[in-house]
Amino acid sequence: MNIAIRYYTKFGHSAKMANVISQVTGSEAETIASSINKPVDILFLGSGVLLGKNQQRHGKFYSYTYS
Ligand SMILES: Cc1cc2nc3c(=O)[nH]c(=O)nc-3n(C[C@H](O)[C@H](O)[C@H](O)COP(=O)(O)O)c2cc1C
Repeated sequence: MNIAIRYYTKFGHSAKMANVISQVTGSEAETIASSINKPVDILFLGSGVLLGKNQQRHGKFYSYTYS
């Protein structure tokens, strides 16, 4: 099973959570700057919520990865 873990973090919490998921799954956690170049079965995607919205950089990530 192919698993990818991507995160965007401003204060470090999402990075810590991504690293916990990485330890459990054995898949490397990387920032959203790292593209996914193969089909994945599960994508863990995380960021903080600021003022009721997730980080807008995720929008760029979705566009870049799935367009
Ligand atoms: C200015 C500011 C606004 C925030 N707004 C929200 C919010 O609207 N809803 C929420 O659940 N958490 C909010 N938080 C908490 C962050 O989502 C939380 O600190 C998160 O862990 C940040 O993720 P990061 O450490 O990966 O950047 C806010 C934090 C800050 C500093």
